[in-house]
Amino acid sequence: MSNTDFALAVEDLTVSFDGFKAIDALTLYIDKNELRVIIGPNGAGKTTLLDLICGKTRASGGSIKFKNEEILGVAEHKRVRLGIGRKFQTPSIYENLTVFQNLEVSYPAGRSVWGALAFQCTADIRTRVETVAADIGLGGERLQTEAGLLSHGEKQWLEIGMLLMQEPELLMLDEPIAGMSARERDLTADLLQRICQNRAVIVIEHDMDFVKKIAHKVTVMHQGKILAEGPMDQVQADPKVIDVYLGH
Ligand SMILES: Nc1ncnc2c1ncn2[C@@H]1O[C@H](COP(=O)(O)OP(=O)(O)OP(=O)(O)O)[C@@H](O)[C@H]1O
Ligand SMILES: [Mg+2]
Repeated sequence: MSNTDFALAVEDLTVSFDGFKAIDALTLYIDKNELRVIIGPNGAGKTTLLDLICGKTRASGGSIKFKNEEILGVAEHKRVRLGIGRKFQTPSIYENLTVFQNLEVSYPAGRSVWGALAFQCTADIRTRVETVAADIGLGGERLQTEAGLLSHGEKQWLEIGMLLMQEPELLMLDEPIAGMSARERDLTADLLQRICQNRAVIVIEHDMDFVKKIAHKVTVMHQGKILAEGPMDQVQADPKVIDVYLGH
């Protein structure tokens, strides 16, 4: 088995749901500072793979090493503490709190909304909130905006910001630009490029223009397995990929 410098090493990973292998002996390596995009038809197992990596779903077999440590048996909340951040498809922000407060409560020391609001906002936390807010394009005056009043795209960025407050070394995003305007998509591409300078990022996406813009490497999944992997232009020209996915 590998013992290398990957941010994430998934080997022979399998999960069965009532005998159906949603992930089937899948092997995947992600470098530090890599932005990997996973594509593939509906039902290919993309979301399930993220569920397994973040610990939401338990694997039937195989190995998941994060920074060279086996995490297969580690509970979901402990994987968060190890540095794995996962954004789900629907944003889970606190609509009644401001942008500042949403980021503040996501600071790792604050375990719950009430706990975090009760403790003093130290200079440290404030600095971190302001840095992250600037990163997600919600700095300055926007910090005081109530999150419920943000646009759909801004809410998605805020949730990414909430994950960044924990300084994850692996960040996973499932279809982050769904429902965004063209301008918001461009800004999200810029944001993801900034974010991956300090960490590994895995993005699941169906929008090929967006994938082209952000991906270092693309993994194509099909029926719980990897169908193809490589740079976007190579994957796009692969007849197998055209046959099961891009040709439709
Ligand atoms: N908890 C579960 N129990 C049973 N079957 C499941 C479960 N989770 C996922 N599946 C099945 O596993 C397969 C893979 O689903 P998954 O959601 O990972 O696909 P996906 O690649 O994310 O598709 P999409 O592009 O539509 O989001 C599907 O056939 C799905 O029905
Ligand atoms: Mg999915």
